Amino acid sequence: MRSEAGASVPRAELAPGYSIARLIQGGWQLTPDHSDREIDRTAQIDSFLRTAEAGFTTFDCADIYTGVEKLFGEFLRAWRAGGRDTDRIQIHTKYVPDLAALATLTRADVARAVDRSLARLGVERLDLVQFHWWDHGVPGFLETAGWLSDLIPTGKLRSIGLTNVATADMRELTASGINVRANQVQYSLLDRRPERGLSSLCAKTGARLLCYGALAGGFLSEGYLRTPVPHEPLSNRSLVKYRLIVEEYGGWKAFQNLLDTVAQIARKHEVSLANVAARWVLERSGVAAVILGASRSDRLVENLRLFSFELDPDDRRALERHCNGHPGPEGDIYERERDRSGPHWAILRTGLHQG
Ligand SMILES: NC(=O)c1ccc[n+]([C@@H]2O[C@H](COP(=O)([O-])OP(=O)(O)OC[C@H]3O[C@@H](n4cnc5c(N)ncnc54)[C@H](OP(=O)(O)O)[C@@H]3O)[C@@H](O)[C@H]2O)c1
Repeated sequence: MRSEAGASVPRAELAPGYSIARLIQGGWQLTPDHSDREIDRTAQIDSFLRTAEAGFTTFDCADIYTGVEKLFGEFLRAWRAGGRDTDRIQIHTKYVPDLAALATLTRADVARAVDRSLARLGVERLDLVQFHWWDHGVPGFLETAGWLSDLIPTGKLRSIGLTNVATADMRELTASGINVRANQVQYSLLDRRPERGLSSLCAKTGARLLCYGALAGGFLSEGYLRTPVPHEPLSNRSLVKYRLIVEEYGGWKAFQNLLDTVAQIARKHEVSLANVAARWVLERSGVAAVILGASRSDRLVENLRLFSFELDPDDRRALERHCNGHPGPEGDIYERERDRSGPHWAILRTGLHQG
């Protein structure tokens, strides 16, 4: 399938007979929790129709992304109304029970959560449910994943994925016999925590990585090249979160040095900085797709260029030099975010269903 930018959108197989676009449109930027920006629902659905026709057929949302499952449901209705086949569209959601609810979750709660996502999306089967557990000190992670998995034979969901689940926890889950198809994690030039164990676990189990943070909320783009440290307050929650990652990478100056190299590579291939940053993630081992924020449809035309080139050995070496000097956030997947005395935990919202 060809699009306006002339390149086609490659696909990756996540499960036998189930493939996704290697660039997934992310839904978090469409929630009121992300920023004050008002969403024009009609324009947004129009944009989804156009971009899905161009091959961007895969979307990411969550039960905690306020209003987004419903918005994607409206999009699916519009897609069907145009006589198109919904089998061409893949919608990934998440099951993120509130932190306060973990200790008392029941099988019935899990079934209700799945039914709620089915109703909001207006579908009979969920393509992929990515499961998150806020606190592995609270028992119930394996049991709850088992209850979710038990819904597969009922036809209510096709596959189970995880999000922000560390290597050891994912290993335990797969050893228990649950067929995990994907783990959605942060992965970028600034944050290479998946390389500390998760990528090799995925290589062994056949699960794939679905990566957010590839552009660090937009920091890894022209807009921040050779700019001073941005003023607070930052304009959305993504920037607040990724500003912490920039600091953990080595601070603004080290980040600017990296951006300079990314810019040189972008000029050489006649693409954007964001293209190079996303391309680097896409080429890492175990990565099925990058998820990019879907707030502006014109971005997607630009983002499509990430399929028009490949990084060459010189590019990889130049980027590796920065990576070697800056190991970035410490520990495994989401380890720093789970630290209750740290700055990441302070900005997390762990009770969005109650909220
Ligand atoms: N599982 C999780 O914990 C988790 C966490 C975060 C995100 N996610 C998922 O990942 C998706 C993406 O979120 P993210 O945090 O990774 O954000 P991101 O895609 O790194 O950044 C999104 C921002 O980057 C800007 N952008 C997009 N394309 C660009 C381009 N070509 N050039 C310059 N800027 C560009 C957009 O700005 P404009 O608004 O100006 O277009 C957008 O607001 C979310 O929607 C969500 O589905 C999951």
